Amino acid sequence: MKGLILSGGKGKRLYPLTYTRAKQLIPVANKPVLVHAIESIRNAGVEEIGIVIGQTGPEIREAIGDGARLGVRVTYIEQPSPDGLAHAVKISQEFLGDDSFVMFLGDNVIEGGISKLIGDFTHSGWNSQIVLKEVKNPSSFGVAKLRPDGSIEQLIEKPKDPPSNLALVGIYMFDASVFKAVNAIQPSARNELEITDAIQWLIDHGYSVMPHVHEGWWIDTGKATDMLEANANLLDELKPSIAPDAHLENSDIDRRVTIEAGAHVVNSIIHGPTIIGEHTIIENAYIGPYTSIYHHVTVQNCEIERCIVLEHAEIMDLDERLDSSLIGRNVSLKRKQRKPRTITMNLADHSSVWLV
Ligand code: DAU
Repeated sequence: MKGLILSGGKGKRLYPLTYTRAKQLIPVANKPVLVHAIESIRNAGVEEIGIVIGQTGPEIREAIGDGARLGVRVTYIEQPSPDGLAHAVKISQEFLGDDSFVMFLGDNVIEGGISKLIGDFTHSGWNSQIVLKEVKNPSSFGVAKLRPDGSIEQLIEKPKDPPSNLALVGIYMFDASVFKAVNAIQPSARNELEITDAIQWLIDHGYSVMPHVHEGWWIDTGKATDMLEANANLLDELKPSIAPDAHLENSDIDRRVTIEAGAHVVNSIIHGPTIIGEHTIIENAYIGPYTSIYHHVTVQNCEIERCIVLEHAEIMDLDERLDSSLIGRNVSLKRKQRKPRTITMNLADHSSVWLV
């Protein structure tokens, strides 16, 4: 069994953060989404992983390296342009060989890991297994239509008029018969080789494709709100810990808080589930539940709740509580102390600011 993680693409719905960083490298619960995917695969006992990379390949290579730090062996597979999920499988044939594999979309986060799914598939003799989840907005995903006996009748990519509310989760298991499918199908109307068409091909040609309906949470981290939700869910699952060298002074920190190495928390209140990153300084502040503050951040004289704050940001002297926000790397958010009270901003393209 091998793993294949798809980490190409551009992540336009997460602009401006993804102007300067691959969307799969944005941290949730202080770990890049891609690292969560690698850990899910590793925890299921699969250590040989191919990562399909595109335009943002260099920074993905830099962040993940050869995988040794995460206990896996990583091979990078370059996809010249994002020509579809089935195209990514096609170009990975040499790496995958005749092995069965689990394909994981590098922007998906799922509750409870994938060990059971992989175990079931390995012992089943099926050619493929797909994961489905009931959603409120099926038109945003691949959608499955099941027969009364629970087998798959049809898969359709982002249908305007969805035949069910069962979305395809970005986790798929295949044996080598998938290569016949990806080599047989034609590009879709949006000019991509669709994995849904490849799986439909398998079904239509008599191969066994089993659906598994996932009961826990699942998030495709396409938009900022999805990131915040994935962050909240992962923080709920995080086992709290306080690094021995964290400096805590005159602060009220509840049981569900994780504080990483070298962080300073002074005269502050922190309510979990929350994580404070390495060498971050929190001073005269309130940090509310479902907040992830990454490394080397400074937060002084303000209140933050349900936010993701990236490395080297500085947030200081705010009167209002910062809520449900995504703050990028090296961002400086400060209240001016002198009069007149004006607003000064240097915002990147596609930034959003809500003032009250
Ligand atoms: O998240 C689940 C959904 O993922 C499924 O329900 C859909 O059936 C499936 O097509 C896919 O839809 P998305 O629109 O979310 O796919 P996206 O373009 O965001 O790509 C998913 C991941 O795969 C992302 O990490 C980028 C990577 N990718 C994408 C393409 C098109 C590649 O590595 N190469 C590609 O050519």
